[in-house]
Amino acid sequence: MCGIVGYIGDKEAVPILLKGLKKLEYRGYDSAGIAVQGKTGLVVRKAKGLIKNLEEKINAEFAGPGTHEFKDAEGIRGFAGIGHTRWATHGEPSDVNSHPQTDVSGKIAVVHNGIIENHGKLKEWLTTRGVTFQSETDTEAVANLISYHYKGDLLQAVLETVGRLEGSWGLGIVCTNEPDRIIAVRKESPLVVGIGKGENLIASDVPALLEYTREVYYLEDREIAVLHKDHVDFYNDEGQAIQKEKTHIEWDAASAEKGGYEHFMLKEIHEQPKALTDTLRPRLSGGADTKGAASGGSADAKGAALSAAGARKINLDEIGFDASWAQANRVVITACGTAWHAGVIGKYAFEHFARIPVDVDVASEFRYRDPILNPKDIFIIISQSGETADTLAAMRMAKKGGARIIAITNVVGSTLAREADLVMYTWAGPEIAVASTKAFTTQLMCINLIALQFGVLRGVISPAQLKEYIGALEALPAQAEKILKGKENIQRFASQQFNKGKVFFMGRLFDYAASLESALKLKEISYTHSEAFAAGELKHGPIALVDTSTLVVALCTQSALFDKMESSITQVKARGAAVAAITYEDSDRFDRLADEVFRIPRTDDGLTPILSVIPAQLFAYYCAVQRGLDPDKPRNLAKSVTVE
Ligand code: AGP
Repeated sequence: MCGIVGYIGDKEAVPILLKGLKKLEYRGYDSAGIAVQGKTGLVVRKAKGLIKNLEEKINAEFAGPGTHEFKDAEGIRGFAGIGHTRWATHGEPSDVNSHPQTDVSGKIAVVHNGIIENHGKLKEWLTTRGVTFQSETDTEAVANLISYHYKGDLLQAVLETVGRLEGSWGLGIVCTNEPDRIIAVRKESPLVVGIGKGENLIASDVPALLEYTREVYYLEDREIAVLHKDHVDFYNDEGQAIQKEKTHIEWDAASAEKGGYEHFMLKEIHEQPKALTDTLRPRLSGGADTKGAASGGSADAKGAALSAAGARKINLDEIGFDASWAQANRVVITACGTAWHAGVIGKYAFEHFARIPVDVDVASEFRYRDPILNPKDIFIIISQSGETADTLAAMRMAKKGGARIIAITNVVGSTLAREADLVMYTWAGPEIAVASTKAFTTQLMCINLIALQFGVLRGVISPAQLKEYIGALEALPAQAEKILKGKENIQRFASQQFNKGKVFFMGRLFDYAASLESALKLKEISYTHSEAFAAGELKHGPIALVDTSTLVVALCTQSALFDKMESSITQVKARGAAVAAITYEDSDRFDRLADEVFRIPRTDDGLTPILSVIPAQLFAYYCAVQRGLDPDKPRNLAKSVTVE
């Protein structure tokens, strides 16, 4: 995720902004930039790549190498400014797409975390009013919209601008005409205001502030902060002054980086509701606005979301997906590891929603086989990093065979994104823990959206069914949130089971596919011997391994196959295994049989992996912690496997 810092006070702003940005490096980024209120106007400097590149650029221009003393460089001397580390969303990583983004006059600069969903329309509207855009970013529309509304009062212009924005934002804004203030405003993207002595700061995350203060105000959605060097005023979205409560930060620097969570993995597991919302929302259009149901509120919002969904449609125009794609003869999905598991679920989803033949292949197998390729094939290549060597090789092979490629990736500008014909991004933000969590569930969100769109275009899904499915998709973030609220139950269970010699995950259909990912999570970070198998295969081999030292986690969400799962559970119980079931919260079917039951909210049986994997992620995490291991950095594993 991107990082924001802002400073106003008695000190030189540039070194403080650069230092603040470095404190946010752990969040992952691909470029950085600053804007400072200089003597003769805003000084904006940006660079692709590491903060070091930006620093070198500034030093080369204004000071000696390795120094931040700009005594002889009036140009960049300033006591107020904003800075940003960018994780690309709209437009690849580049100097011009980096933030701050400015309006055409260069008088207003903006740093932005989040996604402006209606940026296309806003850009069109601004273009008709003479604005020429320099970058591919959504943020440039915000800078120019503020400029359009600016009539001498920056606060008023910001109020009018945010009233026209759709999506999510944390914004830091400066304007040359008002050098004595910085404005910060948020919706669904965190911003914190730090109160210093003769200086005040903003940041998207606490670590950037800790050197200067521990007294902070957390901005709530749609609140606005106006920072002066000696005081800060807060307003609501109607411009009325509000009072806020100050918080004293107790965290040390290390836990502040993890947002107070013990590990990045746990933080990322908890980020899933937001990541799911961010991945889904820009791909829906029309009908009633169910954003509230999707982004928060009660986990029982499914019913409400279902009835409010109206004529909402899946809209993949943004990625260039048109009807021609749905005329494919066959879909082939290739990927590695967790992304391959998303592909297996994708196969089931495509069959379920679109009735089209699908092959799914581990990329390292596909590339060395002699696969039969056809120009009427569509390949879906899934990769969190977009840089996995085998996955890229498989994609290039498919391309050579004449197939068209859709990439699902989390990294804008990655090799996969650059070489594919279409790219659908998972808006999960950077994933730092080696074990993939939020990237996986957002991959599932993407593949379901594509499969549903295939279903619509192929006439398999009726408008009524589509309405049901969209409602179910929109309910998922709140449902995921509800599962996370029950994490203590899973933690307790892990504290009893973490020393098990072997753990098997079994299920049928979508539950089998979700079992694959659940078993991988456990083995990756807790080093427990864990395997997944299709429950129907039990008698064909795995049952030979089942004894009193075994834990079997039975995923039971495929309603038509509950009887079959009941019988599989009975068989492993008879061999002395402990059994945990993951099933719907409104079913007591497995209560009698299983030793432990974890519940997930009711959804379409085809969407359950997005929910049922969350208890498994938490179980893996707590088992690793119980074993005294670092879940963020499992032995022998790398986050991105760029070599064979
Ligand atoms: C996931 O927990 C693993 N670390 C690993 O299996 C990963 O999914 C695999 O290496 C593929 O990576 P990619 O998604 O970046 O291509």
